[in-house]
Amino acid sequence: MRTIVSLPGDGIGKTVLPEAIRVLEAAGFKANYVHGDIGWEFWIKEGNALPQRTIDLLEEHKIGLFGAITSKPKQEADKELSPELQGKGLVYFSPIVSLRQHFNLDICTRPCRAFKGNPLNFIRKDASGGFEEPLVDAVVFRQNTEGMYGGIEWTNPPAQVREALETHPKMKKFAHVKSEDMAISTRIVSKQATSRIIRAAFEYAKKHGYKNVTVCEKPNVLRETSGMFLQLGREIAKDYPGIDLWDTNIDAQMMWLTKNPENYGVLVSENMFGDIISDGFAGLVGGLGFACSANVGEEVAVFEPTHGSAPKYEQLNPSIVNPIAMFLSACMMLDHIGEGEKAEKIRKAIAEVIEEGKVRSYDMMKLRGGADAISKGAATTQQITDAVIAKL
Ligand code: NAI
Ligand code: MG
Repeated sequence: MRTIVSLPGDGIGKTVLPEAIRVLEAAGFKANYVHGDIGWEFWIKEGNALPQRTIDLLEEHKIGLFGAITSKPKQEADKELSPELQGKGLVYFSPIVSLRQHFNLDICTRPCRAFKGNPLNFIRKDASGGFEEPLVDAVVFRQNTEGMYGGIEWTNPPAQVREALETHPKMKKFAHVKSEDMAISTRIVSKQATSRIIRAAFEYAKKHGYKNVTVCEKPNVLRETSGMFLQLGREIAKDYPGIDLWDTNIDAQMMWLTKNPENYGVLVSENMFGDIISDGFAGLVGGLGFACSANVGEEVAVFEPTHGSAPKYEQLNPSIVNPIAMFLSACMMLDHIGEGEKAEKIRKAIAEVIEEGKVRSYDMMKLRGGADAISKGAATTQQITDAVIAKL
């Protein structure tokens, strides 16, 4: 039997992950779940939000199902650290970012697919003044380890960095700025990692019958990094004769996705641009309650909803948060480990519940989140799970 490392984390991660396991079991997926410690609690108690024992578990079992974690700004992080650990120079790092970097989970996939009947779906006016609801079916491939989020940045850059940059003629305009008045973030991309994400996007398109792959960058301005991205896209596209390569600029893409999102299928971008377009598309299919993702490396893979720990709702009992993003992330895990049939069964059950429209979370009811959402007709998290299981 397969072992899955269960990483509920903080806040609503602890609520939605056990619900996903209930759904997986109801779909006939048998596994051992071993618990991995991760999150704020371990920062406070141990000064490390991602203890080594959790890394060891993932090293051993390779597959993680992750809920969400809480990250707080520097001052709060330092203040909440347990007294005996304070003043030891411990620095907080987001454990999910650490996981992506430690295991080189460079391929991030974020499908954004509308479910028929979801009241949160994108609609637009048609020419006759009525409304149309084109069903969005976009899958964003985001390079997960490099680019603008690579973490290579400085405030008050060291002298060597400054000197190196000054070899570039464009640095002249900063000549009068003191280093302590300067902040620098880098956008470094490598051929190897860029090729991997582009190839993953094409492979996905081929497997799932998409007719095009869009490289979404900004090569007219970011001539070097986006330029390399597009160039590699053109080279790799030659290996996929039935699939067209489209290229868009990130700014224009944001406009197109609010005008005719149904035109786009598979998209591929650097880290930050991928983050932006995947949130954009997620908004068209229901938002955070529906946004799932996979972080896949050469050995280890971690599956997670893109939402965070939603501390506002953590204490609500019964819980009102939407577990569907977590269920869909669990489906991505099943696809990854060769249990695609069970994933399809679960997705079909979710689609039926949404289309029937009898059991809806507060976000689908367009209610303000709060304890009173239930008295206004919203289903609890557990009721949504039960409805999906009933369809299975
Ligand atoms: P968040 O995603 O936790 O919540 C933002 C809002 O989205 C919530 O207040 C709620 O209105 C809604 N929401 C989120 N998940 C929902 C669900 N399943 N069903 C219905 N509504 C949902 O983001 P926020 O408030 O910016 O951050 C809260 C904490 O989560 C922070 O500590 C942040 O650092 C962390 N975070 C962690 C992430 C992760 O674990 N991958 C990702 C994003 C934020
Ligand atoms: Mg984001």
